[in-house]
Amino acid sequence: MEDPVTRLLATHPAFTPNKRWLRKLQTRLHKWFVAHRRDLPWRANRDPYHVWVSEIMLQQTQVATVRDYFTRFIGAFPTVIHLANAPEEQVLRLWEGLGYYRRARQMHAAAGVIRDEYGGTFPDTVEAIQALPGIGRYTAGAIVSIAYDQPAPILEANTLRLYARLLGYDQPLTTAASQRLLWQFAEAILPEKHPGDFNQTLMELGSLVCTPKSPDCPACPVMDQCAAYAAGRQAEIPAPKRKLEFTAKREAALVVWKGNKVLVRQCGPNERWAGLWDFPRTDTPLTPQGQADLPALADWLTQQTGLTAGPAEHLTTLKHGVTRYRITLECFTLRHPSGRLAPEGEEPWKWLALGQLEELPLSTTGRKIAKLIQG
Ligand code: ADE
Repeated sequence: MEDPVTRLLATHPAFTPNKRWLRKLQTRLHKWFVAHRRDLPWRANRDPYHVWVSEIMLQQTQVATVRDYFTRFIGAFPTVIHLANAPEEQVLRLWEGLGYYRRARQMHAAAGVIRDEYGGTFPDTVEAIQALPGIGRYTAGAIVSIAYDQPAPILEANTLRLYARLLGYDQPLTTAASQRLLWQFAEAILPEKHPGDFNQTLMELGSLVCTPKSPDCPACPVMDQCAAYAAGRQAEIPAPKRKLEFTAKREAALVVWKGNKVLVRQCGPNERWAGLWDFPRTDTPLTPQGQADLPALADWLTQQTGLTAGPAEHLTTLKHGVTRYRITLECFTLRHPSGRLAPEGEEPWKWLALGQLEELPLSTTGRKIAKLIQG
């Protein structure tokens, strides 16, 4: 019976696949990593907690951005117990600006499970790790291979692209069939010795050389083993993802002043910025002429909070993107509020001095507004 790599690669006629091919690939990658491995803060040791934090941060974010966030995060929560015992708001504050805040909330929840069910010791099997909130097959594989040198394959954005090119695989990568094939490939090429270094090498090569646009093929140690390169198709593989259709949206944020305090609100569990704080915000009510309807905005504030304030004055307009929305956020200042916040209202509204906003996790635009009004 042929081994799985041979079987797999036999479907790709650019290769004469065999064990020698694989050994060559592994040896070349190993040499390349020794010479090109970046000195990243999460590579200072193999602590599974550090590997976990870095891999979660790296899921949607560039290495250059993650560096500082990682260092600050580990500085604030040196162990999984520190993370588990911290208030969620502190965790979100340290995550602020990284986006996809669900990742931070799930990490916090997972840290609680590790504290309560594993006595604070990070579990060491793929099954146990994958059962934690927010950890899928890829992250579990990265943790056990990098921290414990267990032979678990990985498949994430960098390696997905790298494998597709090596195989000359030009089908869309999001289908279940593609994922199956590429997981199989990842498993088949994994060496017994130092699988963690091997996995990091693949990610490093994907992120430094086999980049999405204009891969640097001459710098690649396995260029002559790459089916996409052999066919001159490295620019076409992987097949481009379907472009996201963006929807334009107009929203309004209100900066309501009472003395030197402003009104903020914590976003509920099912909202875009669950757990983070934000200025009062709504879809912009429009006049028939398509302008922001300022009296309607003041009415909205009254309905939401019981406060009457105004008139609204334009402060600034911010543009930002969230998932498929391109948002134009018109910001208004309202002064002289009268009435009281309902003390037992459903919404967690608060009057806070600007200095207090420093302590709270704010939405990205919330932080921009806070900086602007702080001067
Ligand atoms: N991207 C995701 N995980 C990574 C890692 N461990 N090293 C380099 N790039 C990565």
